[in-house]
Amino acid sequence: MAAATQIPEVVLDSSAGPKSMPVLAFGTAADNLQPDTLKMAVVEAIKLGYRHFDTASIYGSEQTLGEAIKEALKLGLVDSRDQLFITSKLWCNDAHPDHVIPAIKKSLQNLQLEYLDLYLIHWPISAKPGELVLQLVDLMPMDFKGVWAAMEESQRLGLTKSIGVSNFSSKKIENLLTFASIPPSVNQVELSPFWQQKKLRDFCKDNGIVVTAFSPLGAIGSSWGTNHVLESKVLQDIAEARGKTVAQVCIRWVYQIGATLAVKSYNKERLKQNLQVFDWELSEDDLAKINQIPQKKMLPREDLVATDGSSPYKSVEELWDGEI
Ligand code: A2P
Repeated sequence: MAAATQIPEVVLDSSAGPKSMPVLAFGTAADNLQPDTLKMAVVEAIKLGYRHFDTASIYGSEQTLGEAIKEALKLGLVDSRDQLFITSKLWCNDAHPDHVIPAIKKSLQNLQLEYLDLYLIHWPISAKPGELVLQLVDLMPMDFKGVWAAMEESQRLGLTKSIGVSNFSSKKIENLLTFASIPPSVNQVELSPFWQQKKLRDFCKDNGIVVTAFSPLGAIGSSWGTNHVLESKVLQDIAEARGKTVAQVCIRWVYQIGATLAVKSYNKERLKQNLQVFDWELSEDDLAKINQIPQKKMLPREDLVATDGSSPYKSVEELWDGEI
Protein backbone atom coordinates (compact mmCIF):
# COMPACT_ATOMS: atom_id res chain seq x y z
CA MET A 1 0.00 0.00 0.00
CA ALA A 2 1.37 3.47 -0.91
CA ALA A 3 2.37 5.66 2.05
CA ALA A 4 -0.51 7.83 3.20
CA THR A 5 -0.17 11.58 2.68
CA GLN A 6 0.52 13.54 5.85
CA ILE A 7 -2.00 16.39 5.91
CA PRO A 8 -0.78 19.56 7.70
CA GLU A 9 -2.63 20.55 10.88
CA VAL A 10 -3.64 23.80 12.60
CA VAL A 11 -3.99 24.20 16.34
CA LEU A 12 -7.39 25.29 17.58
CA ASP A 13 -6.76 27.83 20.32
CA SER A 14 -9.84 27.67 22.44
CA SER A 15 -10.44 23.94 22.61
CA ALA A 16 -10.09 21.96 25.85
CA GLY A 17 -6.31 21.63 25.69
CA PRO A 18 -4.44 22.17 22.42
CA LYS A 19 -6.24 20.40 19.62
CA SER A 20 -4.77 19.89 16.18
CA MET A 21 -7.12 19.89 13.22
CA PRO A 22 -6.06 18.53 9.81
CA VAL A 23 -6.44 21.42 7.35
CA LEU A 24 -8.12 19.30 4.69
CA ALA A 25 -11.35 17.51 5.57
CA PHE A 26 -13.43 15.02 3.65
CA GLY A 27 -16.90 16.57 3.22
CA THR A 28 -20.00 14.40 3.40
CA ALA A 29 -22.84 16.72 2.29
CA ALA A 30 -24.56 15.25 -0.78
CA ASP A 31 -27.93 15.55 -2.49
CA ASN A 32 -28.41 11.87 -3.11
CA LEU A 33 -26.55 10.19 -0.37
CA GLN A 34 -25.52 6.68 -1.38
CA PRO A 35 -24.51 5.06 1.90
CA ASP A 36 -22.45 2.26 0.33
CA THR A 37 -20.54 4.69 -1.89
CA LEU A 38 -19.92 7.04 1.04
CA LYS A 39 -18.73 4.22 3.27
CA MET A 40 -16.31 2.93 0.66
CA ALA A 41 -15.05 6.45 -0.06
CA VAL A 42 -14.41 7.16 3.63
CA VAL A 43 -12.45 3.92 4.06
CA GLU A 44 -10.48 4.73 0.90
CA ALA A 45 -9.87 8.27 2.13
CA ILE A 46 -8.47 6.99 5.43
CA LYS A 47 -6.12 4.72 3.48
CA LEU A 48 -4.94 7.75 1.49
CA GLY A 49 -4.31 9.86 4.60
CA TYR A 50 -7.54 11.80 5.24
CA ARG A 51 -8.10 12.09 8.99
CA HIS A 52 -10.68 14.88 9.24
CA PHE A 53 -14.31 14.09 8.34
CA ASP A 54 -17.00 16.74 8.19
CA THR A 55 -20.64 15.84 8.72
CA ALA A 56 -23.81 17.44 10.12
CA SER A 57 -27.02 16.16 11.65
CA ILE A 58 -28.94 17.40 8.59
CA TYR A 59 -26.68 15.67 6.02
CA GLY A 60 -27.95 12.20 6.91
CA SER A 61 -24.36 10.98 6.68
CA GLU A 62 -23.54 10.55 10.38
CA GLN A 63 -24.56 6.86 10.59
CA THR A 64 -22.64 5.87 7.47
CA LEU A 65 -19.58 7.84 8.54
CA GLY A 66 -19.74 6.07 11.91
CA GLU A 67 -19.89 2.68 10.20
CA ALA A 68 -16.96 3.58 7.97
CA ILE A 69 -14.89 4.65 11.00
CA LYS A 70 -15.68 1.33 12.67
CA GLU A 71 -14.62 -0.50 9.53
CA ALA A 72 -11.37 1.49 9.29
CA LEU A 73 -10.58 0.62 12.91
CA LYS A 74 -11.38 -3.03 12.28
CA LEU A 75 -9.07 -3.04 9.26
CA GLY A 76 -6.33 -1.40 11.33
CA LEU A 77 -6.13 1.65 9.01
CA VAL A 78 -5.89 3.79 12.15
CA ASP A 79 -4.91 2.54 15.59
CA SER A 80 -7.60 4.39 17.48
CA ARG A 81 -10.45 6.83 17.04
CA ASP A 82 -8.22 9.53 18.59
CA GLN A 83 -6.27 9.66 15.34
CA LEU A 84 -9.34 10.97 13.55
CA PHE A 85 -10.91 14.43 13.71
CA ILE A 86 -14.70 14.43 13.43
CA THR A 87 -16.80 17.57 12.94
CA SER A 88 -20.59 17.68 13.11
CA LYS A 89 -23.15 20.49 13.26
CA LEU A 90 -26.23 21.57 15.17
CA TRP A 91 -29.23 21.95 12.86
CA CYS A 92 -31.62 24.94 13.10
CA ASN A 93 -34.53 22.92 14.55
CA ASP A 94 -32.24 22.05 17.47
CA ALA A 95 -30.72 25.53 17.82
CA HIS A 96 -32.49 26.21 21.14
CA PRO A 97 -30.74 26.22 24.52
CA ASP A 98 -32.45 23.05 25.84
CA HIS A 99 -31.99 21.10 22.62
CA VAL A 100 -28.24 21.42 22.12
CA ILE A 101 -27.07 18.67 24.50
CA PRO A 102 -29.70 16.15 23.30
CA ALA A 103 -28.79 17.04 19.69
CA ILE A 104 -25.06 16.42 20.13
CA LYS A 105 -25.84 13.19 22.01
CA LYS A 106 -27.97 12.10 19.06
CA SER A 107 -25.13 12.90 16.64
CA LEU A 108 -22.73 10.88 18.81
CA GLN A 109 -25.20 8.01 18.87
CA ASN A 110 -25.51 8.14 15.06
CA LEU A 111 -21.73 8.18 14.71
CA GLN A 112 -21.22 5.53 17.44
CA LEU A 113 -18.64 7.83 19.00
CA GLU A 114 -18.05 9.05 22.53
CA TYR A 115 -16.97 12.54 21.54
CA LEU A 116 -16.75 14.89 18.58
CA ASP A 117 -13.63 16.91 17.87
CA LEU A 118 -15.61 19.92 16.73
CA TYR A 119 -19.28 20.86 16.99
CA LEU A 120 -20.58 23.84 15.02
CA ILE A 121 -23.79 25.89 15.02
CA HIS A 122 -24.77 25.23 11.40
CA TRP A 123 -26.60 28.51 10.58
CA PRO A 124 -27.25 31.70 12.60
CA ILE A 125 -31.00 31.08 12.64
CA SER A 126 -33.38 28.82 14.57
CA ALA A 127 -36.45 26.95 13.42
CA LYS A 128 -39.34 25.41 15.32
CA PRO A 129 -38.12 22.48 17.42
CA GLY A 130 -39.06 19.05 16.15
CA GLU A 131 -38.08 16.92 13.21
CA LEU A 132 -34.96 18.17 11.38
CA VAL A 133 -35.99 19.59 8.00
CA LEU A 134 -33.68 20.91 5.30
CA GLN A 135 -36.26 23.26 3.75
CA LEU A 136 -36.69 25.41 6.82
CA VAL A 137 -40.11 26.68 7.88
CA ASP A 138 -41.19 28.41 11.08
CA LEU A 139 -37.98 30.40 11.32
CA MET A 140 -37.19 32.32 14.48
CA PRO A 141 -34.39 34.43 15.88
CA MET A 142 -31.69 32.44 17.60
CA ASP A 143 -31.13 32.90 21.31
CA PHE A 144 -27.40 33.24 20.60
CA LYS A 145 -26.47 33.60 24.26
CA GLY A 146 -28.46 30.58 25.42
CA VAL A 147 -27.45 28.37 22.50
CA TRP A 148 -23.78 29.28 22.87
CA ALA A 149 -23.90 28.58 26.64
CA ALA A 150 -25.24 25.10 25.79
CA MET A 151 -22.49 24.63 23.19
CA GLU A 152 -19.96 25.54 25.89
CA GLU A 153 -21.61 23.05 28.22
CA SER A 154 -21.28 20.32 25.58
CA GLN A 155 -17.54 21.02 25.51
CA ARG A 156 -17.30 21.05 29.31
CA LEU A 157 -19.12 17.71 29.45
CA GLY A 158 -16.54 16.24 27.06
CA LEU A 159 -19.10 15.58 24.33
CA THR A 160 -16.91 17.62 22.00
CA LYS A 161 -13.31 18.83 22.19
CA SER A 162 -14.05 22.17 20.56
CA ILE A 163 -16.96 24.30 19.43
CA GLY A 164 -17.53 26.81 16.69
CA VAL A 165 -19.95 28.32 14.24
CA SER A 166 -20.80 28.16 10.55
CA ASN A 167 -22.16 30.81 8.20
CA PHE A 168 -21.54 33.56 10.76
CA SER A 169 -20.64 37.11 9.65
CA SER A 170 -17.96 39.15 11.46
CA LYS A 171 -20.73 41.07 13.24
CA LYS A 172 -22.43 37.93 14.51
CA ILE A 173 -19.13 36.57 15.83
CA GLU A 174 -18.35 39.95 17.40
CA ASN A 175 -21.66 39.73 19.25
CA LEU A 176 -20.94 36.13 20.32
CA LEU A 177 -17.56 37.19 21.70
CA THR A 178 -19.22 39.71 24.04
CA PHE A 179 -20.70 36.89 26.14
CA ALA A 180 -18.74 33.73 25.20
CA SER A 181 -16.59 32.25 27.93
CA ILE A 182 -15.24 29.78 25.35
CA PRO A 183 -14.73 31.63 22.05
CA PRO A 184 -15.52 29.76 18.83
CA SER A 185 -12.52 27.84 17.41
CA VAL A 186 -13.79 27.74 13.84
CA ASN A 187 -16.15 29.53 11.45
CA GLN A 188 -17.06 27.30 8.49
CA VAL A 189 -18.25 29.35 5.52
CA GLU A 190 -18.63 29.35 1.76
CA LEU A 191 -15.13 30.14 0.48
CA SER A 192 -13.67 29.69 -2.98
CA PRO A 193 -11.81 31.82 -5.52
CA PHE A 194 -15.29 33.11 -6.45
CA TRP A 195 -16.20 34.08 -2.87
CA GLN A 196 -12.98 35.02 -1.14
CA GLN A 197 -14.32 36.66 2.04
CA LYS A 198 -11.19 38.70 2.76
CA LYS A 199 -12.84 40.90 5.41
CA LEU A 200 -14.28 37.94 7.29
CA ARG A 201 -10.98 36.03 7.07
CA ASP A 202 -9.08 39.01 8.47
CA PHE A 203 -11.60 39.40 11.29
CA CYS A 204 -11.36 35.70 12.19
CA LYS A 205 -7.57 35.78 12.08
CA ASP A 206 -7.48 38.79 14.43
CA ASN A 207 -9.68 36.83 16.83
CA GLY A 208 -7.85 33.50 16.69
CA ILE A 209 -10.68 31.79 14.81
CA VAL A 210 -9.81 29.29 12.08
CA VAL A 211 -11.83 29.68 8.86
CA THR A 212 -12.92 26.49 7.12
CA ALA A 213 -14.07 26.67 3.50
CA PHE A 214 -17.08 24.72 2.36
CA SER A 215 -17.76 24.21 -1.35
CA PRO A 216 -14.22 25.30 -2.32
CA LEU A 217 -14.80 23.75 -5.77
CA GLY A 218 -18.25 25.33 -6.13
CA ALA A 219 -20.07 22.15 -5.08
CA ILE A 220 -20.28 21.20 -8.75
CA GLY A 221 -22.84 18.47 -9.38
CA SER A 222 -25.08 19.36 -6.44
CA SER A 223 -28.41 21.18 -6.63
CA TRP A 224 -26.89 24.24 -4.91
CA GLY A 225 -23.62 24.15 -6.81
CA THR A 226 -22.07 26.03 -9.71
CA ASN A 227 -19.64 25.17 -12.50
CA HIS A 228 -18.13 28.69 -12.39
CA VAL A 229 -15.23 27.57 -10.26
CA LEU A 230 -14.01 24.48 -12.10
CA GLU A 231 -14.69 26.11 -15.49
CA SER A 232 -12.96 29.40 -14.68
CA LYS A 233 -10.57 30.47 -17.45
CA VAL A 234 -8.26 32.19 -14.94
CA LEU A 235 -8.01 29.03 -12.85
CA GLN A 236 -7.68 26.80 -15.91
CA ASP A 237 -4.75 28.88 -17.19
CA ILE A 238 -2.98 28.72 -13.83
CA ALA A 239 -3.63 24.98 -13.58
CA GLU A 240 -2.27 24.35 -17.04
CA ALA A 241 0.87 26.41 -16.44
CA ARG A 242 1.57 24.49 -13.22
CA GLY A 243 0.66 21.04 -14.52
CA LYS A 244 -2.12 20.77 -11.91
CA THR A 245 -5.90 20.50 -12.10
CA VAL A 246 -8.26 23.39 -11.37
CA ALA A 247 -9.45 21.54 -8.25
CA GLN A 248 -5.86 21.36 -7.00
CA VAL A 249 -5.37 25.07 -7.68
CA CYS A 250 -8.51 25.86 -5.64
CA ILE A 251 -7.48 23.62 -2.76
CA ARG A 252 -3.93 24.98 -2.74
CA TRP A 253 -5.28 28.55 -2.87
CA VAL A 254 -7.47 28.00 0.21
CA TYR A 255 -4.50 26.52 2.07
CA GLN A 256 -2.14 29.25 0.97
CA ILE A 257 -4.43 32.08 2.12
CA GLY A 258 -4.40 30.48 5.57
CA ALA A 259 -7.82 28.83 5.64
CA THR A 260 -8.73 25.16 6.03
CA LEU A 261 -11.29 23.31 3.94
CA ALA A 262 -13.75 20.47 3.46
CA VAL A 263 -13.78 18.97 -0.03
CA LYS A 264 -16.22 16.34 -1.16
CA SER A 265 -15.31 13.57 -3.52
CA TYR A 266 -16.42 9.96 -3.59
CA ASN A 267 -14.01 9.13 -6.37
CA LYS A 268 -10.75 7.40 -5.49
CA GLU A 269 -8.62 9.16 -8.10
CA ARG A 270 -10.00 12.58 -7.22
CA LEU A 271 -9.62 11.89 -3.50
CA LYS A 272 -5.96 11.18 -4.19
CA GLN A 273 -5.55 14.17 -6.48
CA ASN A 274 -7.05 16.52 -3.91
CA LEU A 275 -4.36 15.56 -1.40
CA GLN A 276 -1.52 16.40 -3.75
CA VAL A 277 -1.43 20.06 -2.91
CA PHE A 278 1.13 20.33 -0.12
CA ASP A 279 4.43 20.09 -2.01
CA TRP A 280 4.11 22.99 -4.46
CA GLU A 281 3.03 26.63 -4.35
CA LEU A 282 1.02 29.20 -6.22
CA SER A 283 3.16 32.21 -7.10
CA GLU A 284 2.43 35.81 -6.08
CA ASP A 285 1.38 36.36 -9.67
CA ASP A 286 -1.08 33.43 -9.53
CA LEU A 287 -2.51 34.79 -6.27
CA ALA A 288 -2.87 38.27 -7.79
CA LYS A 289 -4.75 36.82 -10.77
CA ILE A 290 -7.08 34.89 -8.48
CA ASN A 291 -7.69 38.09 -6.49
CA GLN A 292 -9.06 39.70 -9.64
CA ILE A 293 -11.82 37.11 -10.15
CA PRO A 294 -15.24 38.82 -9.97
CA GLN A 295 -16.96 37.77 -6.76
CA LYS A 296 -20.30 36.00 -6.59
CA LYS A 297 -21.78 34.26 -3.59
CA MET A 298 -23.18 30.87 -4.50
CA LEU A 299 -25.42 30.48 -1.45
CA PRO A 300 -26.97 33.85 -0.45
CA ARG A 301 -29.86 31.88 1.10
CA GLU A 302 -32.74 34.10 0.02
CA ASP A 303 -34.97 31.34 1.37
CA LEU A 304 -33.95 32.33 4.91
CA VAL A 305 -35.13 35.95 4.61
CA ALA A 306 -38.62 37.46 4.46
CA THR A 307 -40.21 40.87 4.77
CA ASP A 308 -43.51 39.57 6.21
CA GLY A 309 -42.10 38.73 9.64
CA SER A 310 -41.76 35.00 8.93
CA SER A 311 -37.96 35.24 9.27
CA PRO A 312 -35.88 37.23 11.75
CA TYR A 313 -33.89 38.50 8.73
CA LYS A 314 -35.64 40.87 6.32
CA SER A 315 -32.97 40.78 3.65
CA VAL A 316 -29.82 38.91 2.65
CA GLU A 317 -27.84 42.03 3.65
CA GLU A 318 -29.21 41.59 7.16
CA LEU A 319 -28.56 37.82 7.20
CA TRP A 320 -24.91 38.39 6.22
CA ASP A 321 -24.58 41.79 7.93
CA GLY A 322 -23.56 43.39 4.65
CA GLU A 323 -20.85 40.80 3.91
CA ILE A 324 -22.49 39.89 0.63
P1 A2P B 1 -16.94 13.57 -7.25
O1 A2P B 1 -17.53 13.15 -5.93
O2 A2P B 1 -17.52 12.82 -8.41
O3 A2P B 1 -15.43 13.59 -7.24
P2 A2P B 1 -17.25 20.86 -3.20
O4 A2P B 1 -16.21 20.19 -2.39
O5 A2P B 1 -16.94 22.27 -3.61
O6 A2P B 1 -18.62 20.74 -2.58
O7 A2P B 1 -17.34 20.08 -4.61
C1 A2P B 1 -17.72 18.75 -4.65
C2 A2P B 1 -17.90 18.34 -6.09
O8 A2P B 1 -16.66 18.46 -6.79
C3 A2P B 1 -18.32 16.90 -6.21
O9 A2P B 1 -19.30 16.85 -7.21
C4 A2P B 1 -17.07 16.16 -6.65
O10 A2P B 1 -17.41 15.09 -7.52
C5 A2P B 1 -16.32 17.23 -7.39
N1 A2P B 1 -14.86 17.06 -7.27
C6 A2P B 1 -14.15 16.80 -6.15
N2 A2P B 1 -12.83 16.75 -6.41
C7 A2P B 1 -12.71 17.00 -7.74
C8 A2P B 1 -11.60 17.09 -8.61
N3 A2P B 1 -10.36 16.91 -8.18
N4 A2P B 1 -11.85 17.36 -9.92
C9 A2P B 1 -13.11 17.55 -10.38
N5 A2P B 1 -14.20 17.47 -9.58
C10 A2P B 1 -14.00 17.21 -8.28
